[in-house]
Amino acid sequence: MGVADSRAHGNRAAPSALKTPGIRVAPSLLAADFSRLAEQVVEIERAGATLLHLDIMDGHFVPNISFGLPVIESLRRRTKLFFDAHLMIDEPARYAGDFLRAGCDHITFHIEATLPGGLAASSFAPKHARRGGSATGKRPSSHSPRATPLKEPEVETAPVSAASPDRSGGKPHSPEEAHSDDRYDSDRLEIAPAGRSPGARPPLGRTLHKSGFARARAEAEALIREVQSLGGSAGICLNPATPVEAIEPLLKTVELVLVMSVWPGFGGQAFMPETLEKVRQLRSRLRPDQRLEIDGGISAGTVGLAVRAGADTLVAGSAVFGAPDPAQAYAGLVQLARDAAHQ
Ligand code: DX5
Ligand code: ZN
Repeated sequence: MGVADSRAHGNRAAPSALKTPGIRVAPSLLAADFSRLAEQVVEIERAGATLLHLDIMDGHFVPNISFGLPVIESLRRRTKLFFDAHLMIDEPARYAGDFLRAGCDHITFHIEATLPGGLAASSFAPKHARRGGSATGKRPSSHSPRATPLKEPEVETAPVSAASPDRSGGKPHSPEEAHSDDRYDSDRLEIAPAGRSPGARPPLGRTLHKSGFARARAEAEALIREVQSLGGSAGICLNPATPVEAIEPLLKTVELVLVMSVWPGFGGQAFMPETLEKVRQLRSRLRPDQRLEIDGGISAGTVGLAVRAGADTLVAGSAVFGAPDPAQAYAGLVQLARDAAHQ
């Protein structure tokens, strides 16, 4: 089924859903009760939501797996909400068309995912890879010593700020623990269920080394064009440690920029206020028809900070679907966000 065919069933949002300036809250399906997806989606649509944030995780770019094309295809038949897909996957160009054909209206991908980095560059890579080992992430064989020095990866693991609060949603950990290599050995990786915190282990993620900016931008530019030529809108996302500079020349070409306010991969983490500086920087660089989205840890306590920094599209997972009454929680967040915008 092509994009045009899937449009033909008429259950798609107006393509302008992201165009109009103003505040909107995008409930994230990741925090919904997966045994009652359609019911929960209809509930927030009735409460006035216009878009639904869909977190796609592949277990490579982020250490978690969420849901994929069949879930989106099924939900497409049940709602007219604008589907805002957030691809937390390696090789996003390989799948963007499929997600549009499944019914997504918009595709956001990570600039850090556009370069072949694979496991060797990710936070849960084997220790030897992070210390300059195999670029493929495979354990080098003791029988095949390397003749040539290994190239520095262009995509790197970002350090945890020693000043950062507990972002895991679990018990607090010390900076020493966070920096201990042993805690991130792939052999010890604990995969948490989608939408749940991994417990005491703080999630880390990829960031882009300056030497990779030009190549990543070229890949990203081609993907943005492809998404738009297929009838979708395109967004680009920055992990917490990736600077605005990495995507600067692409800003005029996208419909949306997404700033991660947690390390991607899990819902229910604590908001990282240090990411607001990027929101401020981006606000002055975007046109009124472009959206500035923020994702992670948005709640009644943080939504005002995000809006005052310049975000207009606020992703909220736990704060909406984790609440006893998601419709009421959604309405409350919208109100708080609009109040903050008028201050
Ligand atoms: C995290 C996802 C988020 C997540 C947000 O990797 O990109 O969209 O659903 O969840 P909360 O709002 O609970 O932080
Ligand atoms: Zn997301």
